[in-house]
Amino acid sequence: MTCQTVTIAPSILSADFSRLGEECKHLEAAACDWIHVDVMDGHFVPTLTFGPAVCASLRKHVSCPLDVHLMVDCVDQMVDDFAAAGADIISVHVEAGRHIHRVCQRIRELGKKSGVAINPGTPAVMLEELLDTVDLICVMSVNPGAGGQRFLASQLAKIRQVRDMIGHRDILLEVDGGITLENAAEVADAGGNVLVAGTSVFARTSSDPVADLSANIMGLRQAAQPGNAPDR
Ligand code: DX5
Ligand code: ZN
Repeated sequence: MTCQTVTIAPSILSADFSRLGEECKHLEAAACDWIHVDVMDGHFVPTLTFGPAVCASLRKHVSCPLDVHLMVDCVDQMVDDFAAAGADIISVHVEAGRHIHRVCQRIRELGKKSGVAINPGTPAVMLEELLDTVDLICVMSVNPGAGGQRFLASQLAKIRQVRDMIGHRDILLEVDGGITLENAAEVADAGGNVLVAGTSVFARTSSDPVADLSANIMGLRQAAQPGNAPDR
């Protein structure tokens, strides 16, 4: 049995916003795989975070992939700005904008990996016509707009359903929200191979930020190994 390792993408929504560059350098030193950049516009979700200028600044500090999650209404103009700012993966919500198929095509035209995210209230069937335009599907396991929420176990069935829809396509299945040591295995067992985690990665237990981040990232990676999931 191949030992598939999951990709761990810490969300900087849980970082210290006054030291984002330093926090990203710490994440990279702690061997994160990607950095998940939660962009919120205060309209699609109530929270307002950061724009392309912050992403461009962070790009100068790290070389790992920037996984940009656009929780914004005006996706059409945002994808070009974030592509220019150095994003590697750009995910847009199937619930945002009228022409999501075209937006996913545009992301690829810009030379980036395209992703589509779906909220807990959105059925997986909404993805059917997008499977040939995306490199990543993000199943939200919390309602978007804030970190520190409880994982919605109701989304495990959707993760399995999306895994089946993907079939043999080269599409990553990202799960975003409320990921912890306790649920990482069942999320991976259901088919998730990219785990986004903010609160559980940035949990501090010592005076050494890199050591804490590294232990939390490694802990999630190990917890998600096959065979660790509770019996269904
Ligand atoms: C929520 C964001 C998530 C969230 C993850 O809208 O998309 O990425 O910040 O943070 P935790 O792990 O705290 O749920
Ligand atoms: Zn996110």
